[in-house]
Amino acid sequence: MKKLIITIDGPAASGKEKIAKYISKKWKLNHLDSGILYRRLALIFLIENIDFKSIHKIKNKLKEIRQISFRNSKKIRTQVISKLASKIAVHNCVRNFVNKFQYNFVNKNKKMRGFVIDGRDIGSVVFKKADLKLYIDVNPEIRAKRRYKQLIDSGEKSIYPKILRDIKLRDKQDKLRKHSPLIIPKGSHIINNNGRFKDTVNQINILLDKI
Ligand code: C5P
Repeated sequence: MKKLIITIDGPAASGKEKIAKYISKKWKLNHLDSGILYRRLALIFLIENIDFKSIHKIKNKLKEIRQISFRNSKKIRTQVISKLASKIAVHNCVRNFVNKFQYNFVNKNKKMRGFVIDGRDIGSVVFKKADLKLYIDVNPEIRAKRRYKQLIDSGEKSIYPKILRDIKLRDKQDKLRKHSPLIIPKGSHIINNNGRFKDTVNQINILLDKI
Protein backbone atom coordinates (compact mmCIF):
# COMPACT_ATOMS: atom_id res chain seq x y z
CA MET A 1 0.00 0.00 0.00
CA LYS A 2 1.30 3.47 -0.89
CA LYS A 3 2.24 5.49 2.16
CA LEU A 4 0.69 8.88 2.66
CA ILE A 5 3.24 11.70 2.91
CA ILE A 6 2.36 15.14 4.22
CA THR A 7 5.08 17.79 4.29
CA ILE A 8 5.13 20.92 6.44
CA ASP A 9 7.66 23.64 5.75
CA GLY A 10 8.04 27.10 7.19
CA PRO A 11 10.35 29.44 9.05
CA ALA A 12 11.58 29.10 12.65
CA ALA A 13 8.89 29.12 15.34
CA SER A 14 6.02 29.14 12.83
CA GLY A 15 4.18 26.34 14.65
CA LYS A 16 5.14 23.47 12.34
CA GLU A 17 5.58 21.06 15.23
CA LYS A 18 2.17 21.76 16.76
CA ILE A 19 0.50 21.44 13.36
CA ALA A 20 2.41 18.23 12.56
CA LYS A 21 1.36 16.74 15.91
CA TYR A 22 -2.27 17.67 15.29
CA ILE A 23 -2.26 16.03 11.83
CA SER A 24 -0.36 12.92 12.94
CA LYS A 25 -2.81 12.35 15.81
CA LYS A 26 -5.90 12.94 13.70
CA TRP A 27 -4.75 10.73 10.83
CA LYS A 28 -2.67 8.25 12.84
CA LEU A 29 0.48 9.10 10.94
CA ASN A 30 4.07 8.94 12.13
CA HIS A 31 5.63 12.35 12.78
CA LEU A 32 9.20 13.19 11.84
CA ASP A 33 10.65 16.57 12.86
CA SER A 34 13.69 16.98 10.60
CA GLY A 35 14.88 19.97 12.66
CA ILE A 36 15.65 17.55 15.49
CA LEU A 37 18.23 15.81 13.29
CA TYR A 38 20.01 19.12 12.53
CA ARG A 39 19.83 20.02 16.21
CA ARG A 40 21.23 16.63 17.29
CA LEU A 41 24.17 17.08 14.91
CA ALA A 42 24.71 20.63 16.20
CA LEU A 43 24.84 19.27 19.76
CA ILE A 44 27.43 16.64 18.79
CA PHE A 45 29.55 19.30 17.04
CA LEU A 46 29.28 21.60 20.04
CA ILE A 47 30.19 18.92 22.62
CA GLU A 48 33.10 17.65 20.53
CA ASN A 49 34.24 21.16 19.65
CA ILE A 50 34.16 20.48 15.89
CA ASP A 51 34.94 23.54 13.78
CA PHE A 52 31.63 23.87 11.90
CA LYS A 53 33.23 26.20 9.34
CA SER A 54 35.63 23.49 8.19
CA ILE A 55 34.00 21.20 5.61
CA HIS A 56 36.87 18.77 6.03
CA LYS A 57 36.31 18.41 9.80
CA ILE A 58 32.55 18.18 9.36
CA LYS A 59 32.88 15.43 6.74
CA ASN A 60 35.27 13.46 8.93
CA LYS A 61 32.89 13.67 11.88
CA LEU A 62 29.88 12.66 9.77
CA LYS A 63 31.77 9.53 8.64
CA GLU A 64 31.95 8.43 12.29
CA ILE A 65 28.26 8.92 13.10
CA ARG A 66 26.17 5.76 12.61
CA GLN A 67 22.94 6.85 14.25
CA ILE A 68 21.23 10.05 15.38
CA SER A 69 18.42 10.08 17.88
CA PHE A 70 15.05 11.35 16.62
CA ARG A 71 14.09 12.19 20.18
CA ASN A 72 13.26 15.71 21.21
CA SER A 73 14.79 17.04 24.42
CA LYS A 74 15.27 20.26 26.33
CA LYS A 75 19.00 20.33 25.66
CA ILE A 76 18.53 20.62 21.86
CA ARG A 77 15.94 23.43 22.22
CA THR A 78 18.30 26.13 23.48
CA GLN A 79 19.05 29.31 21.52
CA VAL A 80 22.69 28.25 21.14
CA ILE A 81 21.70 24.97 19.44
CA SER A 82 19.07 26.73 17.28
CA LYS A 83 21.74 29.06 15.89
CA LEU A 84 24.34 26.35 15.45
CA ALA A 85 21.86 24.02 13.70
CA SER A 86 21.12 26.77 11.21
CA LYS A 87 24.85 27.32 10.62
CA ILE A 88 25.69 23.67 9.93
CA ALA A 89 22.56 23.27 7.77
CA VAL A 90 24.17 25.38 5.02
CA HIS A 91 26.54 22.53 4.15
CA ASN A 92 25.40 20.09 1.47
CA CYS A 93 27.21 17.18 3.14
CA VAL A 94 25.20 17.78 6.33
CA ARG A 95 21.94 17.98 4.38
CA ASN A 96 22.61 14.76 2.45
CA PHE A 97 23.50 13.04 5.72
CA VAL A 98 20.25 14.13 7.38
CA ASN A 99 18.15 13.27 4.31
CA LYS A 100 19.51 9.71 4.33
CA PHE A 101 18.14 9.27 7.87
CA GLN A 102 14.79 10.67 6.79
CA TYR A 103 14.49 8.25 3.83
CA ASN A 104 15.50 5.31 6.08
CA PHE A 105 12.94 6.33 8.66
CA VAL A 106 10.15 6.36 6.08
CA ASN A 107 11.26 3.16 4.34
CA LYS A 108 11.85 1.06 7.42
CA ASN A 109 8.49 1.83 9.07
CA LYS A 110 6.60 -0.27 6.54
CA LYS A 111 3.55 -0.84 8.71
CA MET A 112 2.79 2.84 9.13
CA ARG A 113 -0.07 4.36 7.17
CA GLY A 114 2.00 7.39 6.40
CA PHE A 115 4.15 10.25 7.65
CA VAL A 116 4.00 13.92 8.50
CA ILE A 117 7.43 15.45 8.09
CA ASP A 118 8.28 19.02 8.97
CA GLY A 119 11.28 21.20 8.24
CA ARG A 120 12.55 23.75 5.73
CA ASP A 121 13.07 21.73 2.53
CA ILE A 122 10.72 18.79 2.91
CA GLY A 123 8.21 19.64 0.17
CA SER A 124 10.79 21.30 -2.07
CA VAL A 125 13.64 18.75 -1.92
CA VAL A 126 13.24 15.72 0.37
CA PHE A 127 9.70 14.56 -0.50
CA LYS A 128 8.85 16.50 -3.65
CA LYS A 129 6.06 14.09 -4.58
CA ALA A 130 4.20 14.32 -1.26
CA ASP A 131 0.41 13.85 -1.21
CA LEU A 132 -0.10 17.16 0.58
CA LYS A 133 2.36 20.02 1.03
CA LEU A 134 1.82 22.80 3.55
CA TYR A 135 3.80 26.01 3.98
CA ILE A 136 3.24 27.77 7.32
CA ASP A 137 3.23 31.54 7.26
CA VAL A 138 3.51 33.68 10.42
CA ASN A 139 5.02 37.15 10.77
CA PRO A 140 8.37 37.36 12.64
CA GLU A 141 7.02 39.43 15.58
CA ILE A 142 4.32 36.87 16.40
CA ARG A 143 6.83 34.03 16.07
CA ALA A 144 9.24 35.82 18.42
CA LYS A 145 6.49 36.42 21.00
CA ARG A 146 5.49 32.73 20.94
CA ARG A 147 9.10 31.53 21.15
CA TYR A 148 9.79 33.96 24.02
CA LYS A 149 6.83 32.56 25.98
CA GLN A 150 7.93 28.97 25.23
CA LEU A 151 11.47 29.62 26.52
CA ILE A 152 10.28 31.44 29.66
CA ASP A 153 7.76 28.64 30.36
CA SER A 154 10.53 26.05 30.04
CA GLY A 155 12.68 27.94 32.54
CA GLU A 156 15.25 29.43 30.12
CA LYS A 157 16.26 33.09 30.52
CA SER A 158 15.10 35.03 27.53
CA ILE A 159 14.89 38.60 26.12
CA TYR A 160 12.25 39.37 23.50
CA PRO A 161 14.29 41.74 21.25
CA LYS A 162 17.11 39.19 21.16
CA ILE A 163 14.69 36.39 20.22
CA LEU A 164 13.29 38.54 17.40
CA ARG A 165 16.80 39.32 16.16
CA ASP A 166 17.77 35.63 16.25
CA ILE A 167 14.60 34.60 14.42
CA LYS A 168 15.24 37.16 11.67
CA LEU A 169 18.85 36.01 11.40
CA ARG A 170 17.80 32.36 11.13
CA ASP A 171 15.20 33.30 8.47
CA LYS A 172 17.95 35.02 6.50
CA GLN A 173 20.33 32.06 6.83
CA ASP A 174 17.62 29.56 5.90
CA LYS A 175 16.28 31.55 2.93
CA LEU A 176 19.56 32.70 1.43
CA ARG A 177 21.66 29.56 1.67
CA LYS A 178 22.82 27.95 -1.56
CA HIS A 179 21.65 24.38 -0.83
CA SER A 180 17.95 23.66 -0.21
CA PRO A 181 16.98 27.16 0.91
CA LEU A 182 13.64 27.70 2.62
CA ILE A 183 11.13 28.44 -0.15
CA ILE A 184 7.41 27.96 -0.64
CA PRO A 185 7.51 24.50 -2.27
CA LYS A 186 5.89 24.08 -5.67
CA GLY A 187 2.33 22.81 -5.25
CA SER A 188 2.13 23.68 -1.55
CA HIS A 189 -0.79 25.30 0.28
CA ILE A 190 0.02 28.37 2.34
CA ILE A 191 -1.43 28.15 5.85
CA ASN A 192 -1.83 31.40 7.77
CA ASN A 193 -0.89 30.66 11.39
CA ASN A 194 -0.87 34.26 12.67
CA GLY A 195 -4.11 33.86 14.58
CA ARG A 196 -5.77 31.30 16.82
CA PHE A 197 -4.83 27.65 16.43
CA LYS A 198 -8.52 26.90 15.84
CA ASP A 199 -8.42 29.00 12.65
CA THR A 200 -5.24 27.27 11.49
CA VAL A 201 -6.82 23.87 12.07
CA ASN A 202 -9.88 24.89 10.04
CA GLN A 203 -7.69 25.72 7.03
CA ILE A 204 -5.87 22.39 7.39
CA ASN A 205 -8.98 20.26 7.83
CA ILE A 206 -10.41 21.54 4.54
CA LEU A 207 -7.25 20.31 2.79
CA LEU A 208 -7.10 17.00 4.68
CA ASP A 209 -10.67 16.20 3.70
CA LYS A 210 -9.69 16.47 0.03
CA ILE A 211 -6.84 13.91 0.12
O1 C5P B 1 12.92 23.43 12.78
P1 C5P B 1 14.04 23.76 13.72
O2 C5P B 1 14.01 25.17 14.20
O3 C5P B 1 14.14 22.79 14.84
O4 C5P B 1 15.39 23.59 12.87
C1 C5P B 1 16.65 24.01 13.33
C2 C5P B 1 17.48 24.48 12.15
O5 C5P B 1 17.77 23.37 11.32
C3 C5P B 1 16.76 25.49 11.24
O6 C5P B 1 16.99 26.84 11.59
C4 C5P B 1 17.34 25.21 9.88
O7 C5P B 1 18.49 25.97 9.64
C5 C5P B 1 17.74 23.75 9.95
N1 C5P B 1 16.81 22.90 9.21
C6 C5P B 1 16.97 22.81 7.85
N2 C5P B 1 16.19 21.95 7.14
C7 C5P B 1 15.23 21.24 7.72
C8 C5P B 1 15.02 21.35 9.11
C9 C5P B 1 15.82 22.20 9.84
O8 C5P B 1 17.83 23.45 7.28
N3 C5P B 1 14.50 20.40 6.97
